Amino acid sequence: VPRRTLAAAAALVLLVAVVAAVLLGRDDGGGPAPGAAAVPGAPAATERPAGFTRGPYLTRVTTTGARLRWRVGVPGPVSVEATAPDGRVHRARDGLLRGLAPDTRYRWRARTASGDTATGTLTTAPRRLTRPLRLVVFGDYGADTDDERAVGALGARLSPRLVLTTGDNSYLVALPGLLDRNIFRPLRGLLARAPNYGVVGDHDIVFPVGRRALVRAFDWPGGGERYVLRYGPLQIVALGLRADRADVGFLRRALAQPGPAARIVLVHQPPKAGNPVLPVLAAGPVAAVLSGHLHAYERREVAGAPGVPMLTVGTGGARANPGATPRSPDARVFVVRSGLAVLDVGPRRLRLRFVDVAGRVRDRASWPLAGAPAGP
Ligand SMILES: [Fe+2]
Repeated sequence: VPRRTLAAAAALVLLVAVVAAVLLGRDDGGGPAPGAAAVPGAPAATERPAGFTRGPYLTRVTTTGARLRWRVGVPGPVSVEATAPDGRVHRARDGLLRGLAPDTRYRWRARTASGDTATGTLTTAPRRLTRPLRLVVFGDYGADTDDERAVGALGARLSPRLVLTTGDNSYLVALPGLLDRNIFRPLRGLLARAPNYGVVGDHDIVFPVGRRALVRAFDWPGGGERYVLRYGPLQIVALGLRADRADVGFLRRALAQPGPAARIVLVHQPPKAGNPVLPVLAAGPVAAVLSGHLHAYERREVAGAPGVPMLTVGTGGARANPGATPRSPDARVFVVRSGLAVLDVGPRRLRLRFVDVAGRVRDRASWPLAGAPAGP
């Protein structure tokens, strides 16, 4: 069969799948989906507040500010109030909260012109890393599955500072009409508590219009490919779809920026032995490299970057194809089960747990924080 015919057939199959996904995505019923309470005691994370068709959700949190975004059914102003534990209230009309106190947990409330309200929390970054900061990590998630909802509910219960996602945010592809079904509804409760800093994966870049919608929705710099974001003393360095020779200079410059107490690298496809960025990662300091792509959890020790924790967390709820999820030769731990990685970062150590959707801890490890001051 000519290669061109095969390519045309593959494109047709993809198109049919996308049309089907878009049509299925039209079910705007809202409300908690079956399986949403898979985690005992989890909040009704997927319940959609009246008046809002998306979110509200956080896209940025810094030491003194935060950005909330949303979509409303009836166009009109939305006022946001954030209340500190001492009762001090900050107000914003554009969703940009400013002048917040560092390392403080705020309760926020958003109110539409017609009086519909939604609530959540946010925690500003500390100026220095004096106690551990909790992050949750998963990728390969945007698939409107019960497992994705369970991962979101588990993440929300863990009260993370940030959600780090490792690509493949929307299945089968990213398209503007699929993002609510695949991302914002299943993860509503989690994204109302912490912003998602992530990268694009293979499924997100099939259609430029879909990629643009995804990247804009989360305010990811650099097209979700190469960027650096800070959360106080944490530096998140994104390398996008895969790490290659073209990333070497960018990564070296990012890791040379002064200030961060801990640096975490995000890249969709797990870097393998021989990858040109490995010497840069090894020179670091890098606390961890987080990836997805494989629909499994792996903790690897990669030749070329010894001692750098390499975690594959493609466990966000997209269906795993057992035939297509082989264990990597350098994996120390391999788990095929939806779940998320919990990172407690610093000041001297990075502690890791992988927790599956049943709440079971399937892996546990800890490393001295690269670049942290030596001592007890
Ligand atoms: Fe994937």
